[in-house]
Amino acid sequence: MTNHTYPALHSSRIQASVHHNTNTDFSLRNSLQAFTLSMDLMPGGVNSPVRAFKSVGGQPIVIDSVKGSRMWDITLITIRKMICETNELCRFKTKILIMHCAMEIMAWLLFSVVLATLAETMKKGTSVGAPCLLENTLAEMVISAVPSIEMIRSVNSGTEACMGALRLARAFTGKQKIIKFEGCSHAMLILFLLRQLTSNTLTALFNDILAIEKLFENHKGEIAALILEPAVGNSGFIVPKLEFLDTIRKIIKENNALLIFDEVMTGFQLSYGGAQEYFGIVPDLKTLGNIIVSGLPVGAYGGRRNIMKMADTLSGNPLAMAAGIEAQKLIKEAGTYEYLDEVTGELVQGILQVGKRSGHSFDLAKFASFYRGMLEQGVYFASSQFEAGFTSLAHTTEDIKMTIAAAERVLRQIG
Ligand SMILES: Cc1ncc(COP(=O)(O)O)c(C=O)c1O
Repeated sequence: MTNHTYPALHSSRIQASVHHNTNTDFSLRNSLQAFTLSMDLMPGGVNSPVRAFKSVGGQPIVIDSVKGSRMWDITLITIRKMICETNELCRFKTKILIMHCAMEIMAWLLFSVVLATLAETMKKGTSVGAPCLLENTLAEMVISAVPSIEMIRSVNSGTEACMGALRLARAFTGKQKIIKFEGCSHAMLILFLLRQLTSNTLTALFNDILAIEKLFENHKGEIAALILEPAVGNSGFIVPKLEFLDTIRKIIKENNALLIFDEVMTGFQLSYGGAQEYFGIVPDLKTLGNIIVSGLPVGAYGGRRNIMKMADTLSGNPLAMAAGIEAQKLIKEAGTYEYLDEVTGELVQGILQVGKRSGHSFDLAKFASFYRGMLEQGVYFASSQFEAGFTSLAHTTEDIKMTIAAAERVLRQIG
């Protein structure tokens, strides 16, 4: 191992809460030092491949702290955390004007309430290894939000949730084969398990109904489940054709297989009830990720009672459950999703308009230049052109205006 020294993370964290430095002319020296060290410690220097900046070039920024729509790197520079990509779904929804101010206050409130709740819960222990009441409370909240979930199993990550749902589908149907779509990620581990190790994985292109009909014809009685992201967020943003979800729902039922919605990315984002509510299609099982608990490492899968009764594995960490309960209370408030739709619509339309004004057509090849330009302006997007982003309740209309103005400056500069 090379002999690097650690940057002063602790002292910078303390100062970060005091100085909200808005200077965007940041130096990457400390990030480079930390990242060079991490290259020796972790494959690729990261624990999630997209964070290595391979798609956008340059070196990753190492983050010290985050609050609302702001992030601070380890040299204490403010980066506005604005992860959002073209979201076609906004167009389908009616925009309702609501009190923005109330939403912003709610987002800040959630942040402090979650922290306070975590501090209180931690005093009782970080893991109990036995049932705790918080598990019931959060399970009731998610079940009442999502009609297709009659019973739920909490796990530690979205990956685990997907693996659990697939294992359950195989156990319930007594069949082995799984259909997945090209471009739907379900996490790297699932890709590895499904594509490299077994011949029980069948793949098709998203929105290709004929391919699904053929697979069920060619593998009659062998297919346990079809798993998909109901709106794809890991290969750019792909919206399902209107008849697509409806038709595959019918085919799957006719073949006694299960439909699994992987909603690690879309759950509680598309709408309160998720893709099921948004598209009006009911899956047999559905997976959720850390959105349930405002960012702590958690996943869950749930569905019909008769299927879920066969579910194995367990988790239900009390800290994650406590944070989840506070997050669920907030997102249930009236106006939450209307606000998110509105700020997302403003952001997407704003960037598209400045793109047109600066003479750009939609061009994925330009993403890396756009990305790095935005970073220099202090705006942090997901570091891959294929990864969808989201607005949150913490994003204010000021954030949106500032991001669009930054995009205009960057787009005018890049050729
Ligand atoms: C659609 C989808 N499924 C599953 C996962 C895996 O979730 P986790 O990173 O919590 O394991 C992800 C991660 O981003 C995802 O986007």
